[in-house]
This record gives sequence, C-alpha cells and structure tokens, in this order.
Amino acid sequence: MSVRLAVLSPAVFEALADGDRVAGEQLTGLSMTPWFADRIDIWQYMLTLLEGRPENADWLMQAIVLDTGDVIGNAGFKGAPVGGEVELGYSIAPEHRRRGHASAVVELLVGRARREPLVEQVVARIAPDNGASVGVVTKAGFVPREDWNHPRWGRQLQFVRCTPTPVE
Ligand SMILES: CC(C)(COP(=O)(O)OP(=O)(O)OC[C@H]1O[C@@H](n2cnc3c(N)ncnc32)[C@H](O)[C@@H]1OP(=O)(O)O)[C@@H](O)C(=O)NCCC(=O)NCCS
Repeated sequence: MSVRLAVLSPAVFEALADGDRVAGEQLTGLSMTPWFADRIDIWQYMLTLLEGRPENADWLMQAIVLDTGDVIGNAGFKGAPVGGEVELGYSIAPEHRRRGHASAVVELLVGRARREPLVEQVVARIAPDNGASVGVVTKAGFVPREDWNHPRWGRQLQFVRCTPTPVE
C-alpha cells in the first residue's frame, strides 16, 4: 500500500486550529478522522510558524494519505530551510503503525529536501524515550548528532541525513 502527501494550506491550518473539521475537509477534499483533525496543538503550532514568516508555508505539515484515500497521519517540516537545514516531523494513527508508512513518508520528505538546493541536511529531534521514532530515522539512514536542548521539552536526541542535490 502506498502513501502520498497532501499539502495543507494556511486556511486549512486556521480551520483545524479552530476545531472546524468540516471546513478542513471542504478545503482539502479529504475525509479526516477526529484523530487527525482534532490535534489542535499541531495546527496552532503551524499557525505560529507562519507568523511573520510566509516563506514557511511551503515547508509545514501535510496530510499522509493512503492509496485507499484514508488520511492516516501528518508529516512535513517545521519551517523553511535555516542554515541549510530543515527539521522533519511525523505522526501515524495508532491503527496504521508498524506497516512502514512512517518510513515511506520520511523518504518522500528526504526526496523533497534533495530537490531543494538550499537544503544540505534534514534533522530529526526526538525525545530520548521515543524508541519508535528513533527506529524510523535510524532505518532511514540518519546518523546521531549531539543532543539538543529544547526550551520546552528539554533534552532531545538529534539525527541528521545529508541531502545533496543530484547533479543533472
Ligand atoms: C514513530 C511513528 C511515526 C512510527 O510510525 P510507523 O509507521 O509505525 O513506523 P514504520 O512502520 O515505518 O517503522 C519503521 C521502523 O521504525 C522502528 N519502529 C517503529 N515503531 C516501533 C516501535 N513501536 N517499537 C520499536 N521500533 C519501532 C522499527 O525499526 C521499524 O522498522 P521494522 O518495522 O522493519 O522493524 C509512530 O509510532 C507514531 O506516530 N508515534 C507517535 C508520534 C511520534 O512519536 N512522532 C515522532 C515524533 S519525533
């Protein structure tokens, strides 16, 4: 079963941050489960990333859509490249885990980063107790970098994967 990423516009983030799943569905044409739509904290975070930084709009969370049409998670970046780096994030609905979907999505995101000359590497920041996520990035060929101290969540592990743009 394959996955694709569907872009979510700022208007969709606004609707979902307001708890308006119906508007989110109308704007995207996607059928959203409460698990996906009601993650208000994520949608509000996307809006904060857009404040004064419209260039981030192309580098935010997207919907993960199975070839059945089911929306099974969210994945994307946490803003436009800074210093040659983008940070990725992902989440898969519990009933769809351990089927390789996060791995497939990471490859899509790394592929997108590779096509962008401004990006030299992709970073993942992961809580030390999140073995599942560490497994995803390790399997995807990311390598550890020094720990990072998040102002809110404390110590996080960092993993990076270089994304040289292929020579045409
Ligand atoms: C982390 C998460 C996205 C993994 O999604 P997934 O689709 O189940 O991952 P995959 O099936 O692609 O797994 C890839 C590899 O990661 C590792 N892995 C995934 N889930 C794991 C688990 N529960 N325990 C141990 N290893 C795990 C395995 O090495 C796996 O490869 P394998 O199945 O060949 O053994 C999912 O568990 C999730 O959404 N968790 C909550 C949100 C979250 O933690 N997001 C990341 C924040 S940094």
